[in-house]
Formats: sequence, structure tokens, C-alpha cells
Amino acid sequence: MNINELPTPAVVIDMDLLQKNLATMSAIHPGRRLRPHIKAHKCSGIAAMQVAAGHNSFTCATPREILGLVHLGIGNDFLLANEVLDESRLTALAEAQTEALITVAIDSDECLAAAHKAGIRSVVIDVNVGMPRCGIDPTRAGALADSARALGIDVRGVMGYEGHLMMVKDRDEKKKQVHAAMSLLASAHADVGGDIVSAGGTGTHDMFAGTTVNEVQAGSYALMDSQYAELGHDFVQAMWVVGTVISTNEKWSVIDAGIKSLAMDHGNPTIKDHAVWFCSDEHTTFSANEGTPTPRVGERVYVTPAHIDPTMALHDVAYVANIYGDVIDEWPIDLRGW
Ligand SMILES: Cc1ncc(COP(=O)(O)O)c(C=O)c1O
Repeated sequence: MNINELPTPAVVIDMDLLQKNLATMSAIHPGRRLRPHIKAHKCSGIAAMQVAAGHNSFTCATPREILGLVHLGIGNDFLLANEVLDESRLTALAEAQTEALITVAIDSDECLAAAHKAGIRSVVIDVNVGMPRCGIDPTRAGALADSARALGIDVRGVMGYEGHLMMVKDRDEKKKQVHAAMSLLASAHADVGGDIVSAGGTGTHDMFAGTTVNEVQAGSYALMDSQYAELGHDFVQAMWVVGTVISTNEKWSVIDAGIKSLAMDHGNPTIKDHAVWFCSDEHTTFSANEGTPTPRVGERVYVTPAHIDPTMALHDVAYVANIYGDVIDEWPIDLRGW
């Protein structure tokens, strides 16, 4: 089958470009220095390629992502980089500890108690490094680690996610701010101990020289989105939502892909050589830039999402294509849900 024959809207991944992105990141952060974040794609097919690229440790946002990979035998060291209190999900993770090393982030006594009750054996202390989200105050990290160890739980180290710095444009300013955030993480680590100092994402992956960070949690680099493209890294767009032109006139055209197939939290998606006007539930309205012919009804259009993670989570399957546009594989986006 060719991409032009796919039912749309459809997630299409260019195999060569995906491989290129994986190789680029693996050269920068080989092996365990990268703990790829699964939430960016939620697709075991891509996780298997990340294992083939040398990474066996993964970052996950949900128990479902970990359990899906454990049951498929993909990877062997999973960090739940998120606070979870749900007893049944923590118990399912605890049961899976016979098959893989599973480590859970905690930032409070309540999280610790829930993990302990479920039988979780390993934790990291999630440290707040400046983003108003999860993470304990760095000065209190050591005491939480002591409480965990007193319960017989292995404290493997610390993590701290500097998500608020991902899109700082000026590289010198960004480096300054990332290093300040990572010095908070380092001071917490001095109190907590353990081997892991985990942080980072695609937007900061190249900012850690001179810090104590020893693993980077990047995820979006594999497929990319238009927001991260603004940073000008070497990663290329490897995924699109393909739509079909269903209506057109001399002023605008409409495809059958809208908000229900494209996450909009980072703004409108983009279409090369075209201006996107707006998206509605099942439509995107756009016009051709000067010099670009107006698309015909029935033509396929490649849409670049502004935010990859939630876009992938809207779809059941990703179609994998070669450079000729032939669909060479179909990967279920099988790690969705909680
Ligand atoms: C805990 C955590 N680590 C790392 C990342 C980085 O992922 P990305 O490479 O997609 O920016 C995220 C993204 O939100 C995150 O929540």
C-alpha cells in the first residue's frame, strides 16, 4: 500500500528519518546515558528500535507504558518519572518487578507510603528544580530518601525535570538557567545518594556538560514536532498526520484532519508551503503560499503537529513508510492509557 491509499487522518512515520534521529541522539548520549521517554510516542515499535540503538533503560509517564513494555520484553530498566498513588496500578508495577527493574519517582511521604504498601522496591527522589509541577524541595530530598531506606526501599538517586527551560531560545541564557537548575539537583543528590541523576529532555539534551546529570530523559527527538524544530537541533521531522483534501476553492482548502487528530496545546499545526488558518474538530483550513498550486480534492497533505506527545496519543496506529511512500509496516500505538 502507498501513503496515498491510507484512510485519513493517518499518522505516518518516515522510517529513514526516524532511524536518523535515533542515531543522532545515540551518538550524543549512548547506552544508559539516554533514558528515552516513552510518552513522546507510546509505541512499542519505536521503543524496540531504541533498544536496537543501545538503550535498555526507559523513562515512562504512566504505569501502562511500563507494563506494556515489560510484557513485550522491550527494555529492562524502567523509571516511572511521575507520582502515582493508585493502589492497583502500583501493585501491578510491583508484580512486574520479577521481570524488570522498576523504579518509581516519589516526592512526598504519601507517595512513599503508597509505593511501600504496593511492594515497590526501588525509588528515585523527584526534586523540584524550578518548574511548578512535581518534585520535592531540594532541601527536603535527603529526609525523604532516609524515610524510604528505613522502609527497606532502595533509593537509586534523584531526578529533576527542568521542563520550564526547554524552549528558552538564547543558548547561553538557557545553559545558565539549566546549570542553575541542575545545581539544585546536585545538592539534593549529595543528601540522597544513589547512582542516578536523571534530567533533561529534547530541548536541553545538549546542555549537561559540566553538570552531574548522568542520564537524559529525552523523548520527542525521535519523531519531533514544529515547536521543537524552532530550536534548530539536528533532529528532523519524522512523523506527520496525513490528511486528504475534501474541499477546496480559489481562496482556501480543507483536509479531513483537525483537533481530534492533532494536539493543539502548542498552537496550530503547520503544512509546508501553506498557511494554516485554523483547525476545527475534523477539519483544518489552510491556503497555499504564493507560487504553490492549490491542492486538488483527493490530494494527500502532510501536517506537522505542534506537539508530538499528545498527537500520538490520539491515534491507534502509526503507518511506517519508506522514501518511496510505500507503507512497509503498521505499528500499534499500544502504550496509551494509564
Ligand atoms: C519527566 C519528564 N522528563 C523528560 C521529558 C522530556 O521529554 P521531551 O524530550 O519530549 O521534551 C518530559 C516531557 O514532558 C517529562 O515530563
